Amino acid sequence: MNRREFAFDGQSLITPEAVHREIFSPQESSGEHDLVEAKAQVALTLSVAVQQVAAGQEPAVIIDRLIKSLHETRARYYAVWPELVPIVQNHPVSAYFHEDPFTRWSFEKPRGYSGDAHLIDFIYGHPSVADEIRSSSLLGQTLHRYTYNAPSAVAVRERRDLLTRYVDQVAAEKGPEAEILTIAAGHLREADRSVALKQGAIKRWVALDQDPMSVGATARDFQGTCVEAIDGSVRSMLTRSQDLGTFDFIYAAGLYDYLADKVAIKLTQTCLDRLKPGGMFLFANFSTEVPDDGYMETIMNWTLLLRSQSEMWNIINESVAGRDVETEVKFGANRNIIYGTIKLRT
Ligand SMILES: C[S@@+](CC[C@H](N)C(=O)[O-])C[C@H]1O[C@@H](n2cnc3c(N)ncnc32)[C@H](O)[C@@H]1O
Repeated sequence: MNRREFAFDGQSLITPEAVHREIFSPQESSGEHDLVEAKAQVALTLSVAVQQVAAGQEPAVIIDRLIKSLHETRARYYAVWPELVPIVQNHPVSAYFHEDPFTRWSFEKPRGYSGDAHLIDFIYGHPSVADEIRSSSLLGQTLHRYTYNAPSAVAVRERRDLLTRYVDQVAAEKGPEAEILTIAAGHLREADRSVALKQGAIKRWVALDQDPMSVGATARDFQGTCVEAIDGSVRSMLTRSQDLGTFDFIYAAGLYDYLADKVAIKLTQTCLDRLKPGGMFLFANFSTEVPDDGYMETIMNWTLLLRSQSEMWNIINESVAGRDVETEVKFGANRNIIYGTIKLRT
């Protein structure tokens, strides 16, 4: 099976196993020799970490080296990588890195799925996670300073700010009739700094998510504004089971990283159907240039479907047939996140 042919349901419960199955196809395995060599490489990486811990080296040095080694091993032994993941996860030294409350939350998945909005609040440095960080061990806090500043986390904060700018720009262009739809909205943190929202310059901002806890938090935080937090999933979008109306701007950030191409294309087409003339759709995806991919997939048990520029273009090209559109694919500043936009011509 081609790694892009499998379509998982795209509804909820994003487990690392499901994403793993999607990304790493069994045919790519290149034999026993590679596996033996790869296992030896991982064993060496982990034993160096153990020695560094025993020698009292700086946590930042230890995690930095581990992230680089896992990245290199993943790239070099990609075909057998799924077999290396449990070796790292079951090694006692992983407990050292789980002292970081962000890494631990990702690994333990208290909400039962990967990449929940509370996890992303660690990346945002949101006050709602301040107590958890404060009550962590000194080691945990030190490690967290490192993971907070990792390139992928920097890119997620840039993504939030970029979305705020898009929303404010759409509101400025469309006037008080502007309608916005956020899919997989999480806690809608990009709305916190939206000037248009503060000034009441948006007619309707629908924030859809499959996690009722996140929907509840958004409803509470944006009570009295035009934000409508609603329970909904990729599936409910695809089956059009909710009558949401049409929008000037629809976007999804932190969602396509879990969707196989087939579902991603269907969702994109559905979103384009819900745009008003002149409206824009945006989707973000972690890129194949993320340096902490190996750390995320092992120590954090957080597997994402990383996409290249051409894979983003493929989703766009397969989605826009017969429509008059302007399209673009561009990287964020540090190339860890990639953005695709489709604008309907009026
Ligand atoms: C990584 S968070 C991103 C949240 C927010 N968009 C942000 O950028 O901070 C992913 C969000 O996607 C939601 N989600 C995951 N699968 C979904 C699905 N199939 N349908 C709707 N929401 C989904 C999760 O509940 C979670 O809130």
